[in-house]
Amino acid sequence: MATMAANTFTSTSRAYLCHQYPSFPRTSTIRCSSHPTKTLAPDKLPAAEPSPVFHSVKSFAPATVANLGPGFDFLGCAVDTLGDTVTLSIDPSIPPGTITVSSITGDHPSAVSKLSRNPNFNCAGIAAAAAMRMLGVRSVGLSLHLHKGLPLGSGLGSSAASAAAAAVAVNALFGGGLSQSDLVLAGLESEKKVSGYHADNIAPSLMGGFVLIRSYRPLQLMHLEFPVDRELLFVLVSPEFEAPTKKMRAALPDLVKREEHVANSSQAAALVAAILQGNVRVLGSALSCDGIVEPKRAPLIPGMVDVKKAAVKCGAFGCTISGSGPTAVAVVDDEDKGKEIGERMVEAFLIGGRLKASVVVAKLDRVGARIISCNAD
Ligand code: HSE
Repeated sequence: MATMAANTFTSTSRAYLCHQYPSFPRTSTIRCSSHPTKTLAPDKLPAAEPSPVFHSVKSFAPATVANLGPGFDFLGCAVDTLGDTVTLSIDPSIPPGTITVSSITGDHPSAVSKLSRNPNFNCAGIAAAAAMRMLGVRSVGLSLHLHKGLPLGSGLGSSAASAAAAAVAVNALFGGGLSQSDLVLAGLESEKKVSGYHADNIAPSLMGGFVLIRSYRPLQLMHLEFPVDRELLFVLVSPEFEAPTKKMRAALPDLVKREEHVANSSQAAALVAAILQGNVRVLGSALSCDGIVEPKRAPLIPGMVDVKKAAVKCGAFGCTISGSGPTAVAVVDDEDKGKEIGERMVEAFLIGGRLKASVVVAKLDRVGARIISCNAD
């Protein structure tokens, strides 16, 4: 559910948001939304241009673990603690219907210096512009500030978090006319440009929890509810190593053998069942059993094979590469155990790969991208 922190907006705006955000359909056990009728084609622009309901909004979108082993390109989840923040303001000095990336700050200086402020080459800028086009915003110019909480090329959905935060900010600023599927499509515009057309980061970053991409054409998303009373922790160990998604995708085979297809499909099905049942043990072991993608990518990340062995030896239910890497993700049901496993994984990256690494033990983020404050003045 969206979190509203500021109390500076009008009672009309407040009534709108209270009405709008709780309506995001997150409550069903499995949810499937089909491709929206709105598209990015100019001839399909909405007839009526929406008016802004705020002067500025601030949004946050969480990091994600894509693939989850055998769910390559069709399964991912959001994790708490880490993410990106966008502040979006109406700016009369910006040409109407356009967006400017006015500033970028971040917790990782190297990430900030590498990001473009050209909105056509910045994930937040691309997704915000796509959301503006979908809404039909033509008379208002926007200024966007991006705060990167995530490092680049880490395997934690850094580009998707920026895109998700930007898309929800635009939507909230103009009254929330876009659906979740619309927002995913806006985010996909950005993903397509920077790393490839895959929604397993952008969909969970926007929707929270676990998301299954059932189909891309048309886009069909299924939100998988992990039971609220079960403990599930992700040990995320990120080495100082860049693994660009484009390069990691280029390493994958175009064709797989029938036995590989059968083995991976059954593990992916077990993974989905384990998520819905809240069975962390099976979830971990199924996540650990990707026989197609992980074997091709792990050798490209120094130490990854040893890290996985160390995690499982120390008691993790499973371990794999988060997204396209280089972050390794292990699954446990106890926070202290998670910290211990994280230390072993960091050691393994150092000994096996000569890489320094940092560890975060995170929970499932069930909320997804949200507005954290808004201002009507
Ligand atoms: N499914 C994508 C891949 C995720 O593995 O290439 C990238 O974060």
